[in-house]
Amino acid sequence: MSPDEFLQHCDTLESQALAAFAAAEAVCDQKQLEAARIEFLGARSGRIKQLQKALGEVPAAAKPAAGKRFNQLKQKLEETFDKAAQTIAQRSRQQVEAQRQRAFDPTVPGTALRLGRLHPITQTIEELKDIMGRLGFAVAEGPEVEDEWHNFEALNIPPEHPARDPLENFYLAAAANCAPWQSASSGKQAQSAANSPPRLLRSQTSTVQIRVMEQMRPPVRVISCGRVYRPDTPDDTHFPMFHQIEGLMVDRDVTMGHLKSTLRLLARMAFAPDVEIRFRPSFFPFTEPSVEVDMSWQGGWIEMGGAGMVDPNVLRAVGYDPEQYSGFAFGLGIERICARRHGVTDIRQFFRNDVRFLHQF
Ligand code: PHE
Repeated sequence: MSPDEFLQHCDTLESQALAAFAAAEAVCDQKQLEAARIEFLGARSGRIKQLQKALGEVPAAAKPAAGKRFNQLKQKLEETFDKAAQTIAQRSRQQVEAQRQRAFDPTVPGTALRLGRLHPITQTIEELKDIMGRLGFAVAEGPEVEDEWHNFEALNIPPEHPARDPLENFYLAAAANCAPWQSASSGKQAQSAANSPPRLLRSQTSTVQIRVMEQMRPPVRVISCGRVYRPDTPDDTHFPMFHQIEGLMVDRDVTMGHLKSTLRLLARMAFAPDVEIRFRPSFFPFTEPSVEVDMSWQGGWIEMGGAGMVDPNVLRAVGYDPEQYSGFAFGLGIERICARRHGVTDIRQFFRNDVRFLHQF
């Protein structure tokens, strides 16, 4: 092949390849560009390969010039191809993005977020705190793991009392009295765990009466709401864990009249302005006299809990002088209050935590 002929081929190939790459780029067609690459730059039978073979036939004297032109052509085609490929890739990314934005319609209503809400028991507690707060009662807290002094002894419940039966309470195993970072396996610590005073999950919020009175002098006007634990078999009115609201008022000349009017106000504010309160004689070791509290509701009476005048022994246990001070206390079941208000007939529902149930409150 003459050198002139070779250069002629180079020019032709160059203009055809550039035109093919440009055409594919113009329509942003990745497949068309790839076809052009194979036609011109294909490693096995691309036209540049054929040209390379033709280079071998160019007379030796003209070879350096022809070879230079060939290399320059090959480089130019490769560069042009790369640029076209990049441009196409970038443009199709932009197209996808534009498409996505066109598909987003800000006027279509979004998917509603599911808003959480307070558990119905928590809502009831908040409301009871609010009501009692308006009657001048502050909120006190106490631990759920208690010692026997606060759960029983200071409340005038002697060791032989049936309420202290281990089967009626959730006592903690001795080793569990160890702080978690201590290991009960070491002999000395196992010994001290065995000697440490028994602890139990509190069976009533009356424990907080004692904790409050140990901390302050009268006048006392507090409520305490929280979980209590008893080994009851679950049914529609029982659960081994439930909530109580405890009330305590101690001052000079506190009478049962104060107790009754406080409970009546509480019931009327929590339920309806015309509910009545009824006392029935009862017994609790820490109150004397003691009563069961009923509330009139839909033509009948429902039991709300226990109450009474703080027993002088309890006042003495916390260092109050029963000659100077008297007080009343009450303890009501929160599940019962909550269930009545919402027409729930099975208190186990409160603790199954099925959102379809909880969502209604
Ligand atoms: N603690 C009693 C109970 O759990 C209720 C109560 C509280 C009774 C305060 C009298 C006074 O049944």
